[in-house]
Amino acid sequence: MIGRIKGLGSYLPSKILTNQDLEKMVETSDEWIVERTGIRERHISDPNTETVSEMAIKASRAAIEDAGIDPLEIDFIVVASTTNNMVFPTTACLVQGAIGADNAQCFDMSSACPGFLTAFNVAQNFITAGQCKTALVIGSECLSNYLDWTDRGTCILFGDAAGAMILQADEETDDFHKCIMKADGKRYGCLKCESKMQRISEEDIKEKSRFYMEGREVFKFAATEVPKVILELCEKYSIDLNDIDKLVLHQANKRIIEAVSKRLSVPMDKFPMNIERTGNTSAASIPVLLTELKDAGELKRGEKLILSSFGAGLTWGAAYIEY
Ligand code: UT7
Repeated sequence: MIGRIKGLGSYLPSKILTNQDLEKMVETSDEWIVERTGIRERHISDPNTETVSEMAIKASRAAIEDAGIDPLEIDFIVVASTTNNMVFPTTACLVQGAIGADNAQCFDMSSACPGFLTAFNVAQNFITAGQCKTALVIGSECLSNYLDWTDRGTCILFGDAAGAMILQADEETDDFHKCIMKADGKRYGCLKCESKMQRISEEDIKEKSRFYMEGREVFKFAATEVPKVILELCEKYSIDLNDIDKLVLHQANKRIIEAVSKRLSVPMDKFPMNIERTGNTSAASIPVLLTELKDAGELKRGEKLILSSFGAGLTWGAAYIEY
């Protein structure tokens, strides 16, 4: 048994922050940002109305409409986020209450940028184990709340968004989910943000609870490990990389995607991108990109996809799915 993608939906905040806007905030230039990252603009949430849970609810409603299902059919909701607006209850419970998915068990997961991929793998394994039949898998992030807006090395990279996917069990097949996930906790210090909860003074919060990234290290890690894990996935499950229609990668930096394309000898036209308009939306990036492809008519039923992501932890992985 395996889950099939029944529906996709996304939500992007209405406020757009352009590279020109950033030029007024930190010492940077549109030219530098475009050349080094491929990003031109990103969406920034309104902290009052566009929280992680509100965006997750909007993306979920769109995915439910796309799937054409009744919310009562959903029996599992999992939300991937590192920027939840509530400490508790879980965002998954807030989504459940808002959309009326009364039959769903709910929990949140945190795995930074690969959060959606991890949640997707968990949902697939719940389906295979017979724990659920219709899963709602969400990635929603408001990283703008955690960025240091004086650090030009990080604040130019990220945007806010939510993406959602409805997965439904295909009971007719003995096919199974194919994925590989990895972690290297020894390198946790490359990309981190300490919780504000344990800080005792404002100064302490400023000093330690800021978004910290060693950009070059993370770049090298992604450009090396992502192609390796994709090749490992193909070898483990006898997938011919030449048969893959699209490689849907975490949208962190256009140059990382170009490096992966080169190392795999797979042409760039098989790597869809929306980073130019969204920036890095962390756990939301893969479902937002999939939704945009579907809406543009660029994702066809039966297409063979590899999803791959990487980020803080360090964590990374890849999964295979037919749309
Ligand atoms: O979801 C996963 C999370 N993160 C990532 O995937 C990030 C991976 N890393 C990257 O995308 C890149 O490393 C960055 C885009 C963050 C930086 O690009 P880079 O080519 O690695 O630049 P760099 O850090 O090596 O910096 C080169 C220069 C430095 O100046 P000096 O020392 O050569 O004088 C930086 O101070 O560029 C400077 N710089 C900037 N200049 C203008 C750094 N940020 C900026 C900026 N505008 N925004």
